[in-house]
Order: sequence, then C-alpha cells, then structure tokens
Amino acid sequence: MDPSPDKSLALRSLRPEDHPAVLRLWEEAGLDVRPRGRDGPKAFAAQLRAPNSHYLGAFRGEELVGAVLANHTGRKGWINRLAVAPQERRRGVARRLVRTAEEALRADGIEVVAALAQRDNAASLALFESLGYVVHPEVVYLSRRERPEA
Ligand SMILES: CC(C)(COP(=O)(O)OP(=O)(O)OC[C@H]1O[C@@H](n2cnc3c(N)ncnc32)[C@H](O)[C@@H]1OP(=O)(O)O)[C@@H](O)C(=O)NCCC(=O)NCCS
Repeated sequence: MDPSPDKSLALRSLRPEDHPAVLRLWEEAGLDVRPRGRDGPKAFAAQLRAPNSHYLGAFRGEELVGAVLANHTGRKGWINRLAVAPQERRRGVARRLVRTAEEALRADGIEVVAALAQRDNAASLALFESLGYVVHPEVVYLSRRERPEA
C-alpha cells in the first residue's frame, strides 16, 4: 500500500474512447507506436475486450497521465506499455499503476508477473527493481512479425 496516496490521481479501466489520449501518452513517453498495426483504434478496442486483460489509465482530472496494459496467459502475467507523462514523473504514478495491475492479475490467480524493458532504460529498470522485480540478464527476447508495421 502506498503510504501517502495521491488523492487527486484516479485509476480506472481504459475504454475505446481513450484511444487518442493513450496514443498521445505513448508518443510523449517515447514508446514505439504502431497506429497502422496493433495500436490502431480497432486493435486497441479488441485488446480491451480480450479475456485476461486489465488495461488501466491514471487520470488527473480528465487528463490521462499514465497507462499500463496487463494481461496473462493463465500461467504468467505481463506488464506491458507502461507510460507516464513526462511532467508527472517521480510522483508514484507508475508504482500505483503497476501495483494495481498486479492486484488484478493476482485476483485472476496469477502469482508470477513479468515485464520487458530495454537494457538502457534506467528509469524502467529502477522502477521494476524498486517494486521487487528481478532482472534476468541471461534471457534474450525473440520476436517475429507478420508484416513490418504490425
Ligand atoms: C518508467 C516510468 C514509467 C516511471 O514512471 P514514474 O511514474 O516516474 O515512476 P514512479 O514515480 O512511480 O517511480 C517509483 C520508483 O521507481 C524508481 N524510479 C522511477 N523513475 C526513476 C528514474 N528516472 N531514475 C531512478 N529511479 C527511478 C524510483 O525508485 C521511484 O521511487 P522514488 O521516486 O520514491 O525514488 C516513466 O519514466 C516513463 O514513462 N518512461 C518512459 C516510458 C517507459 O520507459 N516505459 C517503460 C517501458 S518497460
């Protein structure tokens, strides 16, 4: 539990109409965004409806200032696409988003949660380590795309 909860920050599930704000946030946060692929409005709406998904936004008033997409395979949970607006950083927004996503995963019976981060992303690594995540330098990430913009 956060010792001094930030009362002006409200967390709720993301909705299809949040799509433009989510894209803006990801772009501002420097995430790779694929609007003609998996980050398009239809793909986003489908991901929100997918089973085993908990897509959360952190709002200050009406403004989306942070987001995280969490999901699980029944075996392991994943924290994806975590982003906090630059002017909102180091105020505990990411910590709250990740802890809330973990609670949702735990309610689904998930006891192992993982995240992928770039090796040179010092903020992300520091955040996850501060939350008890262990770095696995022996693991290599592999992926394959059906099309370049996917
Ligand atoms: C990584 C990111 C999500 C952190 O968000 P944030 O809201 O600023 O993080 P928090 O304020 O909740 O930080 C919690 C703790 O994480 C650690 N931490 C977070 N950012 C840090 C930084 N830049 N340097 C060192 N430690 C950091 C600290 O231990 C911090 O606690 P403290 O502020 O009490 O010292 C944010 O920097 C971001 O959006 N980065 C760009 C997108 C990105 O890299 N996403 C992650 C993809 S894996």
